[in-house]
Amino acid sequence: MLPAAPQALIAGLAAGTVFSFSALTALAPATGSRPAAEASTQLALTGLGGLLGGVAGLVAVRRRHPGDAAEASAPARGRRELVVSRKHPETPEITSFELRPLDGQPLPAFQPGQFLTVELMIPGQAKPVLRTYSLSDWPAGPGLPDHYRLSIKREAAPAGSDLPAGLASSFLHDHVQQGARLRVLPPAGTFVLDTTVHTPIALISNGVGITPMLAMLKAALAQPRPQPIWFIHGCRDSRFHAFREEVQALAQQHADRLHVHVAYSRPQPGDDGLFQSRGRVDGALIQRLVGASAQYYLCGSAGFMDDLIQHLRHSGVEDGAIRFERFSRPTPSAREAPVPACQVRFARSNRLATWGAAQAEQSLLELAEAEGLRPPFACRAGVCGTCATRVLNGSVSYAAKPAAVVPKGSALICIGQPGSDQLSLDL
Ligand code: FES
Repeated sequence: MLPAAPQALIAGLAAGTVFSFSALTALAPATGSRPAAEASTQLALTGLGGLLGGVAGLVAVRRRHPGDAAEASAPARGRRELVVSRKHPETPEITSFELRPLDGQPLPAFQPGQFLTVELMIPGQAKPVLRTYSLSDWPAGPGLPDHYRLSIKREAAPAGSDLPAGLASSFLHDHVQQGARLRVLPPAGTFVLDTTVHTPIALISNGVGITPMLAMLKAALAQPRPQPIWFIHGCRDSRFHAFREEVQALAQQHADRLHVHVAYSRPQPGDDGLFQSRGRVDGALIQRLVGASAQYYLCGSAGFMDDLIQHLRHSGVEDGAIRFERFSRPTPSAREAPVPACQVRFARSNRLATWGAAQAEQSLLELAEAEGLRPPFACRAGVCGTCATRVLNGSVSYAAKPAAVVPKGSALICIGQPGSDQLSLDL
């Protein structure tokens, strides 16, 4: 069990501002409602547009899934307090937390690939800490889920931040035990499986990017139309191979249409038989295994996805058939135009900061943090919308199109940089 103090802190999370998050999502601003969080509209992600010369447009796809029928009656808004009914390690880095309702009410349905925002009150932090984590499981039968599963990697410190390494994930790994209570926001996110298309599906991930892929895999296998599914995953070796037995069981159960391929970049002695190829998951491997006529879903590290997206495009895969989710912000150096030197005013805090060459790799969120401010954030990747901040004067530019919906007159400071030589933010 969690020690008394942290448990009380978690159970009694401050009723602060509600935020949402994720990796590719249509969410509303930090302090407003987020109507897209519970919508069943799916946006095919295209966030690398700027980075890769316009990989894809934003495509709205209406979709249905087994939970849709019940979704309308599910409590889709507001936080819920859930209890950790099971906690178990998947790898030395990734731990799964199964969450069940305390009040006996059904959990909101979700779409395969969505995430939860977890709101944590961590000792030493003045405000609740918000983080988004992909749901890694899918209900075995029809109807609303009786639990959620989050599979969380212990993270390093955000680049350029003075925050401690893995603040939220370390807290969850070290202090949140079975029986603890967690406050979460409804499932959200637009990186979801499109079940309206019936072409082959390729679910491709590396590292902890496997988490939404697993929910998508189970949802795809539950579809009545048995299109072929490729589940391709890369990791270091057997120690870091999450969900191996779970995926293996699915592969045996659906041997007629599920093709699993795992690549170990540095297999250890004794790993023979646990992986299919040595090296990294790259375009050549995907081309050899899948070909071009599939719907591609990618989730993993930035370099992994950038390489795969470029390769798929060059191989003739249409932009609309490529969907991806980022766990990190786009590369600032991918900007088409250099960021101007800028005076950034944080109006509410009455602080003035200079943006120059030294900040070329930073975001406005990191600049604000360097000034001692603590704006809310969750994903730090332009996905959840939590960091949306009103722009009072000037403009904000992005290296890639944000995945989250950005409210008019606001900017996502976690991926934004100045777009003008004078910028004033409502912070
Ligand atoms: Fe999630 Fe900025 S969009 S923190």
